[in-house]
Amino acid sequence: MRKKIIIGNWKMNNDKQETENFLLKLKNKTWNKEIEVKVSPSFVSLENAQKILRNSPVEVVAQNMHYEKNGAFTGEISCKMLKSINVNSVIIGHSERRTLFYENEDIIKRKIKTALNNEMKVIFCFGESLEDRNKKKHIKTITKQLDVIMSDLKTNQRNQIILAYEPIWAIGTGLNATPEQAQQIHKHVREEIATAFNKNLANSVQILYGGSLKPNNSEEIFSKPDIDGGLIGGASLSFDDFYSIIRSIDKK
Ligand code: PGA
Repeated sequence: MRKKIIIGNWKMNNDKQETENFLLKLKNKTWNKEIEVKVSPSFVSLENAQKILRNSPVEVVAQNMHYEKNGAFTGEISCKMLKSINVNSVIIGHSERRTLFYENEDIIKRKIKTALNNEMKVIFCFGESLEDRNKKKHIKTITKQLDVIMSDLKTNQRNQIILAYEPIWAIGTGLNATPEQAQQIHKHVREEIATAFNKNLANSVQILYGGSLKPNNSEEIFSKPDIDGGLIGGASLSFDDFYSIIRSIDKK
């Protein structure tokens, strides 16, 4: 049985006080123990978030990291720095990093390798553009994005990846993929993994959906068999919305 996962990706939102207020509320809430809840605050709040959540099952996740061990990379954060404050998971391949910060597949691959070689878990984002979808090239794009990453990893490292299907046209736009569209992609990804690697991996890999998930669409999206949870941006900034989304997967 795959565990359900809900991750709040706060992006460049929430300062120290806002982070504290949110997490103190979250810490006092309960949900089914089988659901993994994670939050991804900004770098400056990671350590404080860890402190607040010390005795809580909520995991703190980084939004990014550099692929080099250390060195002259002004403004960057290393894997070792994250691990030194007990942050053991990182989001890589987010479409905002790809488009706004020009991260290409080579950079993404290096980041993933560094993270996995240092026993960090990776939440790997992939997804097609609107143009790809309109031209009916979305399946091809997704297959390629996954192939580039997965085929380059060692067998035991593939188990350390959580996949997040995030169609670019649905991120922050209010346009979510329909539950059927998302399910179709998630099912396709599992089939591809089964063919390329093995059925065990295909059945065990957790695949999240991300893109305008809200309390009013999450229950239906999470009801699909191949969708194991969500990576939530905008709606994770409102405590009530985020908690409603957690509760909506509880009902599945
Ligand atoms: P959104 O963002 O929920 O605001 O669409 C999702 C994401 O970027 O992970």
